Amino acid sequence: MLTPQYVKTSIEERIGRIRLNRPERYNALNRTMIREIVEAMEQFDQDEAVAVIVLDGEGKSFSAGADIEEMLDATPISMELLDPFADWDRISRLHKPLIAAVHGFVLGGGFELALACDLIYATPETQFGFPEVGLGVMPGAGGTQRLTNRIGRTRALEWLWTGDRMSASEAHHLGIINRIVEADQLEANVLAVAGRIAAQPMMSVRLIKDAVDKAGDLSLQDGMDHERRNFYLLFGTSDQTEGMQAFLDKRQPTFKGN
Ligand code: HXC
Repeated sequence: MLTPQYVKTSIEERIGRIRLNRPERYNALNRTMIREIVEAMEQFDQDEAVAVIVLDGEGKSFSAGADIEEMLDATPISMELLDPFADWDRISRLHKPLIAAVHGFVLGGGFELALACDLIYATPETQFGFPEVGLGVMPGAGGTQRLTNRIGRTRALEWLWTGDRMSASEAHHLGIINRIVEADQLEANVLAVAGRIAAQPMMSVRLIKDAVDKAGDLSLQDGMDHERRNFYLLFGTSDQTEGMQAFLDKRQPTFKGN
């Protein structure tokens, strides 16, 4: 990948960090920026030095959504030909834990980006919302599906039709975000959680995500069959032997990630 224009990336203690970096536009997501975010995620997903990926935003906000200026003159045909959501779809094929640390405005495509992550931590002042209806459009990067999966049809429709802003406490109450953390502690808290997950046996973490993702797609029995195959697979890892032996030896395990 060429040097990204709109994201900053780094690796710290097995945590791959991606920071949205277009603060003068509230990190509005243009197509180049989305591609850079997804490419950075994919690179970290493939990188053995990275166990967990953390996404956050530079400046006053995580993201005010897709770049409205860029979309103004779009037509159905230009959208069909550009297929802008092909990049977004790649996010759901990532294997490693993705954590969003959000603050300020988390609107439209910014909210969809956060919802595409596995865990979301937010500051008390964070405002979430889907204002697309007021622009004569609607969410297009999974918002109607992921919000409905999280909070149910009746509540999702109200948020999506009104475009109202949702406070961090409402989002927490609705089960959309994991935790609310004071702004000056958000980064440290998220890195601590990421560090704890990074220290777990890597294949367990990976196959747990894989199984949980099936919960929305498969019948209960098919989901349980899938879970079971993942469970059996973990008996092929050295971390399973080490984890169980360490328990019996009454010592701390040393995991190798395989
Ligand atoms: C393009 C944006 C933008 C956006 C802000 N800016 N949001 N540019 N796309 N989504 C720009 C403004 O034009 C302005 O540029 C600068 O950022 C600062 O914004 P202000 O509006 O002056 O700031 P403020 O008054 O503090 O209001 C902040 C705000 C507001 C509440 C976040 O900007 C806002 O409502 N933005 C739009 C939010 C929205 O509708 N999002 C949904 C987008 S559609 P200048 O040049 O004047 O300084 C979407 C569809 C997703 O996300 C589909 C799938 C991807």
